[in-house]
Order: sequence, then C-alpha cells, then structure tokens
Amino acid sequence: MDDPQVSVRRATGSDAAAVAELAGQLAQSFPFSRTRFDAGYAALLDTDGAALLLAVDGDAVLGYLLGFDHPTFYANGPVAVVEEILVRAEVRGRGVGRALMAAFERWAASRDCGLVTLATRRAAPFYVALGYEESAVHLRKVLRAPAAR
Ligand SMILES: CC(C)(COP(=O)(O)OP(=O)(O)OC[C@H]1O[C@@H](n2cnc3c(N)ncnc32)[C@H](O)[C@@H]1OP(=O)(O)O)[C@@H](O)C(=O)NCCC(=O)NCCS
Repeated sequence: MDDPQVSVRRATGSDAAAVAELAGQLAQSFPFSRTRFDAGYAALLDTDGAALLLAVDGDAVLGYLLGFDHPTFYANGPVAVVEEILVRAEVRGRGVGRALMAAFERWAASRDCGLVTLATRRAAPFYVALGYEESAVHLRKVLRAPAAR
C-alpha cells in the first residue's frame, strides 16, 4: 500500500460499521460484542467530553481513537484520557497513530485539559516516541464477566 494521505476527523453515525470492525481488533480482555457496541455508539457520539476520532484516507478508515475528559482536583482542572487507539495493521508505522494522538491532544487542549493520560500493556514505546513518560501503575478489578454480551 502507498503511504496514506492521513487526515483526522470526528466520527459520525455512518462510521459505526468501520469503527466496530477496528474496535473488534483491539478487544482482548473482553470479547467484542457488536450488540453492545451498537447499543452505545450513538450515545457516545452525543456525549460531551467524549472524542471519537478517525484517521482517514479519503473514504478509507485507517484507525480510531476513543478518549474522554473529566474534571480533577489533582491537576487543577480537566484531564484527558486515551481509552482506545488502533491503527489498521497494514498501515502501522506510517504516522497514523501519531496523527490521531496529535488530534486528541489538540482536542484536549481546546477543552482546557492540563494533561493527557493513558494506560497501556502493549504500546508503551509508541507513546514514549510521542513524548509520554511513565508515571503510575495501572490496576483494575473486573466487575462483569468478560464473556458477558
Ligand atoms: C500502537 C499503534 C496505535 C501505533 O500506531 P502507528 O500508526 O503504527 O504509529 P506511528 O507510525 O504514528 O508511530 C509514531 C511513532 O511511534 C513509534 N512507534 C510506533 N509503534 C512502535 C513500537 N511498537 N515500538 C517502538 N516504537 C513505535 C514510531 O517509530 C514513530 O516514531 P518516529 O516518528 O519517531 O519514527 C498501532 O501500532 C496499533 O494499532 N497497535 C495495535 C493496537 C494497540 O496496541 N493499541 C494501543 C493500546 S494501549
């Protein structure tokens, strides 16, 4: 594949199938459920404080990023969190992930966020390449059986 001409835009309702296909590739701990995805997709687009960004080359969706902001005391204001990011395997290593993160950082700054945080198991070198630094241990407690649909 030639180098993609990447632009980043907000997702819309008509992107649901493309986002679902990519989100299904990211899922690991919880098996992907299209039923649950469809139940939440439209509401997510309407949620203030949610950013669902798509990296596109024309009509082709190359990757997505889902992030949020929320108020905090510790940072004297809002903080932005990257929840999910995935780039299609065949276009990785060509700046698509960087473009998604840069767009999310712009969105976060526009909402007065003092920092961007995220947890990762697999992609730390990617974030370090973008200037992120390790600062905490991420813990979790599963409240719903991973196989639940
Ligand atoms: C992680 C991911 C989003 C990166 O997207 P990408 O489009 O391949 O990344 P980019 O091409 O924009 O890379 C940006 C920088 O990160 C570096 N980088 C990316 N992946 C890397 C890796 N696995 N190891 C080391 N460096 C990496 C690149 O070298 C580049 O640095 P440079 O510009 O200084 O050369 C992509 O690999 C992916 O979708 N992985 C599977 C899903 C995943 O793990 N998501 C993260 C869950 S927390």
